Order: sequence, then structure tokens, then C-alpha cells
Amino acid sequence: MRIDIITVLPELLESPFNHSMMKRAKDRGLLDIQLHNLRDHTPYKQGQVDDYQFGGGAGMVMMPEPLAVLLDKLKAERNYDEVIFMTPDGKLFDQKAANSLSLKKNIIIICGHYKGIDDRIRQHYVTMEISIGDYVLSGGELGAAVVVDAVGRLLPGVLNDETSALFDSFQDDMLAPPVYTRPADFRGWKVPEVLLCGDPKKIDEWRYQQSLERTKERRPDLLNEQ
Ligand code: ADE
Repeated sequence: MRIDIITVLPELLESPFNHSMMKRAKDRGLLDIQLHNLRDHTPYKQGQVDDYQFGGGAGMVMMPEPLAVLLDKLKAERNYDEVIFMTPDGKLFDQKAANSLSLKKNIIIICGHYKGIDDRIRQHYVTMEISIGDYVLSGGELGAAVVVDAVGRLLPGVLNDETSALFDSFQDDMLAPPVYTRPADFRGWKVPEVLLCGDPKKIDEWRYQQSLERTKERRPDLLNEQ
């Protein structure tokens, strides 16, 4: 999968993709992340990419021209399945959206800044608008990092234990069960007996019940969605 990210702050996105699973995904050739500094594509002087908004009001707006120039260039090079704009008024990102994006081949993610981007770019280029939560970030970069991480770890071959993504929280509209590791007795706090019994059927049943209880207690809205 190839992900092109358009940003005015590429430095912000260098570290998140160079460690752990995202690094592994890149090293294994499963994920190709290309960062594009919008300032390198502006026809305006001194790398200008934003301007005052028509009609007045506080805050600058990202101009259409630099974005259109870069988007046209990328789209001429290959077909893109989605052009995503990170914005607090987009659709709330969830595991289902991550699953569905992980099936795409090429996507572009535009990170907004200031007051956002000129709406004509949203109307004529953007195919999907994503919010990572009901709060306003200072730019789309951290949101883009969240989306790429959630999607990248789902690509076949990224997780070492191929099945483990299936048991993530949210994968069946349920939260994950509690987990334990050695020692079985830590300061007198014991691991639930059933996990040591060696009977996979009993363990699966216990995990399912724990998931259900956790979800009922913490996120009953997930169960109501089914
Ligand atoms: N840009 C600013 N706030 C955002 C949010 N909540 N989600 C995605 N992109 C954003």
C-alpha cells in the first residue's frame, strides 16, 4: 500500500513512521509512505501556502493552487483510491474505517493547518474527510499519523502473529479481554486460574465473557450498535 501525505510540517511525521510496526511495514515493503512538503510545490514567493480568508475573520486559509498543483502531479503518476482530508468536521475514524482503508492500494492524505483548506479543494479533489475525535488539533498531521498507524498494522504480513489483529478491541464491536504474563503470582496477585488450565475452549469462553463484561461496563454503546 502506498500513502502520500501532503503537509506543511513533514518533520512532525518523520518519527511516528520510523519505529516499531510502521518501520517493520516499510522495511518489509508492505507500506510505502511518501511525505510531500506543500511549500515545495507552491508557485507563490517564499513558499507561501496560505492567505487571509475572503469575507474577513481570524485565521489563514490554505490556498487552492499549491494543493491542486501537487494533487494533479500525484494523480498523473498513478490512480488513487481515496483523497483524504484530515479535519475535525469529517467522519469520526473507527476500526471499521481502518479495516476498509487497509484494503486500498494508493491513498493521499491532506493535512490541514490554520483555518483549514480552501473549500474548492474539498469539493473537487477530496473523496473522504476524516476526524480522529471531537476536539480541534493544531493541524492534521497527528490525525494522519493515527490513521496510518491504525491502517498500516492491518496490512497482511505486518503483525508477526497473523491472527492477533482479529482479537483487537473494536474488531467485533467488543473491547479486548484483560491479558496477563509471567509471573503467575506477582506480589500475591494471582493470574485467573482458567488461563493456566491448558484447555483452549475454556480459555476462549472466559475471554469472550470478559470482553462482553468489559464492553457492557465501559462501552455499552458498542453493543447497542449491533
Ligand atoms: N485537524 C484538526 N483537528 C482534527 C481532528 N480532530 N481530526 C482530524 N484532523 C484534524
